[in-house]
Amino acid sequence: MITRIEKVDPVFPDAAVIETAGRILLEDGLVAFPTETVYGLGANALSPDAAAKIYAAKGRPSDNPLIVHIASIDALDLIADPIPEEARKLADRYWPGPLTTLFRKKAAVPDTTTGGLPTVAVRMPSHPVAAALIRAGGGYIAAPSANLSGRPSPTKASHVIEDLDGRVDMILDGGEAAVGLESTIVDLTEEVPVILRPGFYSREMLEDVLGEVRIDPGILSPSENVRPKAPGMRYRHYAPRAPLSIFEGDVGTVAAAIEERLAEAARRGEMAGVLCSGETAERYRAHENAYVIAAGSGNDEAEVAHALYGALRQFDEAGADRIFSEAFYGGQLGDAIMNRLLKAAGYTVVRV
Ligand code: TXA
Ligand code: MG
Repeated sequence: MITRIEKVDPVFPDAAVIETAGRILLEDGLVAFPTETVYGLGANALSPDAAAKIYAAKGRPSDNPLIVHIASIDALDLIADPIPEEARKLADRYWPGPLTTLFRKKAAVPDTTTGGLPTVAVRMPSHPVAAALIRAGGGYIAAPSANLSGRPSPTKASHVIEDLDGRVDMILDGGEAAVGLESTIVDLTEEVPVILRPGFYSREMLEDVLGEVRIDPGILSPSENVRPKAPGMRYRHYAPRAPLSIFEGDVGTVAAAIEERLAEAARRGEMAGVLCSGETAERYRAHENAYVIAAGSGNDEAEVAHALYGALRQFDEAGADRIFSEAFYGGQLGDAIMNRLLKAAGYTVVRV
């Protein structure tokens, strides 16, 4: 398959390009597009064939359900029932934006889209290209992150091209994704709302609207006994090729421990990637075998979130033999960053 790659202005996307992309979706084709979180791989969510094509292009297990993207609140009526009052309140506050809500699905949503589940996950993205494309493509676009299954989610078009060139009909290049991590997923079908995947909107921000919100215990540790409710959270994911360890402790001790590992790696003739805050980067750069990516400053988690997936890809490209990362806690995005980093590390944490 030849993939058409089109640049689009992220704020005022060219109408002709969007129309062409929308037509591809209406004919059950695949279009990758930018959203404010990560790039998505879009297909018509109401067509069983289109959803099946997504699984094939990504190499994704077909029991892992897709998020349905909409461009207006009225679109919910066709696909979700009931629509609880809490969902409307959340939508009022946080849609369009990086929030995904779970509903009981209606018959219009094929089982292929939800991986056979009776629920459907719905999100209304704020990115102007995403919103325009959803409208042009019929109003209901299933879109997982536009990476090959198991690879870090793409935060720019070059990542999508790396993974999906030749496997999809079109890629819309709208520049870098602003947030860099996937949406928060909240389940309102339980008595107390549950966060199934932490994201841009924190637990506190949801509690501000909903009152008590829980976090799915299955995503906090890799225990075999508590399975995450979101099937995608069960797979090893966001994985760089080199083994990754996260170092946790106070700043100076962490830096000393990573430096020691760098020296050990050097003795074995290995090159190591280091993901760190701006404050400590120079210490690691003094090691010749270190490939250092400073993900912003330690107290700016927005910068860390924005840089994380790109950094994991860069380590792969640079041929790193192993990767050491500082832990990044705190702030609105701390939970989401650590959730992704822990998964990428297979939960390997060194406490110093
Ligand atoms: O920010 C995002 O949400 C991005 C952009 C493209 O919108 N999309 C995204 O999709 O992250 P994906 O497919 O990579 O992740 C969707 C997650 C998976 O963990 C999946 O298992 C879960 O949502 N999910 C989808 N539908 C579900 C359902 N009905 N019940 C439980 N989990 C669901
Ligand atoms: Mg994904």
